Amino acid sequence: MSIEQLSEWLKVSQNTVVLTGAGMSTESGIPDFRSASGWWQNIDPRTVATVEALERNYPLFHEFYKMRIENLEKVAPHEGHEILAEWERQGLISLVATQNVDGFHQLAGSQNVEELHGSIRTIRCHRCGKRAEMAAFLQKQSCSCSGKLRPNVVLFGENLPQASWKKVIDSIEEADLVVVIGTSLEVYPVNQLPSMTNGKTVYINLDTAKQVIQFDLIIKGKVKEVLEQVII
Ligand code: APR
Repeated sequence: MSIEQLSEWLKVSQNTVVLTGAGMSTESGIPDFRSASGWWQNIDPRTVATVEALERNYPLFHEFYKMRIENLEKVAPHEGHEILAEWERQGLISLVATQNVDGFHQLAGSQNVEELHGSIRTIRCHRCGKRAEMAAFLQKQSCSCSGKLRPNVVLFGENLPQASWKKVIDSIEEADLVVVIGTSLEVYPVNQLPSMTNGKTVYINLDTAKQVIQFDLIIKGKVKEVLEQVII
């Protein structure tokens, strides 16, 4: 019933927005954050994913992001990313808003993607903001202004990219259907998005116990398996 229901709603919706989190990429081999096998089981995020960590303990900050960047070379988007790109081509979804920084939605072919937590694929100077080469970051070089190099991810405590955030809020508010995939919805302000729509809301996730707002439809399962079963 539930996957058939999602298929029906997708087909009749004039404006569908998809919101994804780290659970979208675990089947590509990228750990999520809060599952039993997630990054934050062994690492305190405050020691690596904050401005304070960047400024006070650059070696550990650098090691964490260097390892994640180098891991990206060994993994790829899976069929679930490709299905979302196909749904966009068919006009079934208008936007993918993601918390993920791996760039996999774009690599799989999605065109209209908003990276609300930035991207690990590009580098800038933390002091002057100038763009820097990935090789310079991986070789732990400093900026010509002697500032520290960092990925363009949104660290805890930093603001989300404002243009992106506004575009996603506008899209969610106008959506007939919001499909939330592979996220614990534990991180503010993205976790406020599902309650900002007047449309129907669907939650596709392995762990459905913690979701704190009522969804019209909850599908407990693995992203790739669920999306592959949706018949359009
Ligand atoms: N299929 C479906 N759900 C999955 C799968 C899968 N294959 N793998 C994991 N999940 C679910 C987990 O059960 C969990 O509820 O995805 C969710 C991932 O939640 P988090 O690890 O908290 O990741 P996310 O919600 O994206 O975190 C938000 O927190 O650490 C910060 O900036 C980081 O963007 C991240 C933000």
